[in-house]
Amino acid sequence: LVYAYFRGKGNLTDGLSRLLTEISQGYFQPDVGGKNIPVAQGELSDLAGDQPLFKALYQWFIESGGVYKLVFGPKAFIVVSDPVVVRHLLKDNAFNYDKGVLAEILEPIMGRGLIPADLDTWRVRRRAVVPAFHRQYYDAMVTMFGRCADRSSDKLQALVEKGQVGLGGRVVDMESEFLSLGLDIIGLGVFNYDFGSITSESPVIKAVYGVLKEAEHRSTFYLPYWNLPLADVLVPRQAKFRRDLRVINDCLDDLIRKAQETRVEEDAEALQNRDYSKLRDPSLLRFLVDMRGEDVTNKQLRDDLMTMLIAGHETTAAVLTWALYCLMQSPAALERVLREVDGVERGGNPQGETVADLEACKGDPLGESLRMYPQPPILIRRALGEDVLPGGLRGDPAGYPIGTGADLFISVWNLHRSPYLWKDPDTFRPDRFFESYSNPDFEGKWAGAYAVSGGAALYPNEVGSDFAFIPFGGGARKCVGDQFAMFEATVALAVLLRRFSFALEGPPEKVGMATGATIHTANGLMVRVSRRTPPPPPPAPAAGSPREEQLPRQPVAA
Ligand code: HEM
Repeated sequence: LVYAYFRGKGNLTDGLSRLLTEISQGYFQPDVGGKNIPVAQGELSDLAGDQPLFKALYQWFIESGGVYKLVFGPKAFIVVSDPVVVRHLLKDNAFNYDKGVLAEILEPIMGRGLIPADLDTWRVRRRAVVPAFHRQYYDAMVTMFGRCADRSSDKLQALVEKGQVGLGGRVVDMESEFLSLGLDIIGLGVFNYDFGSITSESPVIKAVYGVLKEAEHRSTFYLPYWNLPLADVLVPRQAKFRRDLRVINDCLDDLIRKAQETRVEEDAEALQNRDYSKLRDPSLLRFLVDMRGEDVTNKQLRDDLMTMLIAGHETTAAVLTWALYCLMQSPAALERVLREVDGVERGGNPQGETVADLEACKGDPLGESLRMYPQPPILIRRALGEDVLPGGLRGDPAGYPIGTGADLFISVWNLHRSPYLWKDPDTFRPDRFFESYSNPDFEGKWAGAYAVSGGAALYPNEVGSDFAFIPFGGGARKCVGDQFAMFEATVALAVLLRRFSFALEGPPEKVGMATGATIHTANGLMVRVSRRTPPPPPPAPAAGSPREEQLPRQPVAA
């Protein structure tokens, strides 16, 4: 590659200086401002070592505080782990920031989709996409989630039957099963395309995994060598990436074309009236094609779909993976979930109305696993103009002036595991969201640590926790798929936990963690799966009696 680069660029010295320039341009901007920000004493090599990036950032957070800087040569980035500063970046002054490094990495894949989009494009597309996620859409989706979870369930059933029952079930990599489930669901929900990945493999599925893998490689590799000329011809993984991307783009273009050709007036009317019972295709694509403004291009539509495919697939699969991992080690929490699932389901899969009753799934265990294993563990921003970051809970009260172009990492991992904000931060304790707890040292500076579950909120969130808990980000760029994901994970857990018993195979440490766009296991989630016989459904409450709480709980004072 280097040879080709030099050859294409003339003489050797010129080639070398160009190559060095390319490399030093790297991802990060020059160190701009933030002169009073503590500089963490680390090496770039510490970031490239064996441990995941977010773990290295945690150690420096404890040593250097909620706002610190990592400097390597002329470049730098600022790491933020303080809720007051996070609130400033995501909400109070959100439009002073774009996605910086992340947008550079994702642009070749997602184009100008919502995640990497510049602010002008984002404003228009966010307005077009958000209305697609409405109540009737979710009702249709919840039924589809149940159908897909049934497929996973049937597959597990077949595996269990083939396994040696006498040994207590069959060992299955549940991380990989959740990835397949997540892919089938996002394909159907976003563009009514059935990947069928739970039961088969196709060139499109392989291409999706290939592209995801490359996105991950790019987000964890420090030198963007793929921008070099001919990289996509000479570097095998880059050539494969180009081919994979073409397969997916062709598939999406085809789906968009078909959706446009099959636009039926009755469907458009049904959509207009939000009458999903009459719709043959309730997907987001159908909505965007039928309800879109005239000015959106097919390329933009493709970028939107690709963004949601990638944003909604691995994230939800990762939440399910870690929720199951945690529940298998927490019999009391699992017992609560099972009692509720057995009660509410009454034999069938959760539907639009019953899914909202399953607080034990979505409220706490899923919320708590998202606290411990946030997806993604780091959010990325770049300053579009000068700003002054607030000093936060423990920093310089004068704040930190930063310059245009400053690169920032919001460490969600640090925030969610902060010993200053959470009691027993490394312990899986779903009940914590019902406790009231806040650090008395921070009174007056900040509202409190624990989100209070229940009430109007679908899940513990950034508002209730005053930005100590940001499972779906917050402010203007908050996730558009939060409810989709919570319903999906709730239905999947309910269906699978009701029918199977899961026990971790081997010690928990063996599962390990690896950084990607999301937090993966290092070695798969190897689980012994066996058939579970659910208890008979409880009698239905007498007509007119108030809905009985499945498991009433009192808030627990810390
Ligand atoms: C943005 C998390 C599922 C689509 C985000 C952000 C987070 C997040 C933290 C904010 C990123 C930032 O501020 O830099 C998650 C998690 C999910 C999930 C944990 C699953 C448990 C989904 C699903 C979809 C989706 C299912 C689509 C159907 C998006 C989009 C954005 C986004 C389009 C960009 C929003 C914008 O910039 O306006 N997600 N997400 N996500 N998510 Fe999700």
